[in-house]
Amino acid sequence: MIITIDGPAGAGKSTTAKGLAQRLGFEFLDTGSMYRAVAWAALSRGLKLQDEVGVGAVATGMMLEWRGTQLFCNDTDVTTDIRQPEVSAGASVVAANPEVRKAMVRLQREAAMGRNIVTEGRDQGSVVFPDAECKFYLTADPTKRAERRLRELEERGHPSTLDRVLAEIYDRDHRDKTRAISPLVKATDAIEVDTSGYSQGEVVDRLEEIAREVLKVR
Ligand code: DC
Repeated sequence: MIITIDGPAGAGKSTTAKGLAQRLGFEFLDTGSMYRAVAWAALSRGLKLQDEVGVGAVATGMMLEWRGTQLFCNDTDVTTDIRQPEVSAGASVVAANPEVRKAMVRLQREAAMGRNIVTEGRDQGSVVFPDAECKFYLTADPTKRAERRLRELEERGHPSTLDRVLAEIYDRDHRDKTRAISPLVKATDAIEVDTSGYSQGEVVDRLEEIAREVLKVR
């Protein structure tokens, strides 16, 4: 069974998907980290992120492996590095590259094959798993999303300011929603949940309740 959670940056997808997977005994796939790993690999090779052919080749030949909570890219642990602001901005650039998307979609479908999985990203319900049994689209007011991102950055030792994070969020949303290939959209059959004003626990409770009803699992 597949549960998809899509939505803009900072809507709480990752924490929610992780929590929901844990409650249901499903696995969890954070597809944003895959685009981040492509940006990281391209930057560490000194490529220009706009170099479609070069970055496409990096993505196509890339080995991605999860060992517990750590993500390895070609045998290097990139878990922390892919959260750097420069990689965050780069991820939304490489995510517009058709070859990169083709390679990541293939890996995502392989990862989900024969598994019960909660997968989160931007195109999971609309493009990658159109037949998923249960689809969610999380939203939140931009200031709330920026506040969440700011807290995450602080926790990871990358302090910033609310104005700066908000500007980055608007910028990324714009790129993610207007790109030609697989833009961020709500799948027509996705259930939209606005997370503004709710705690993480409350959001997981709500999604769990809906998922158990839709999937008919107790
Ligand atoms: O969710 P995130 O912030 O880690 O995602 C990083 C970037 O990757 C973001 O700009 C959107 C992009 N992305 C995407 O295009 N498709 C996905 N399925 C997941 C993320």
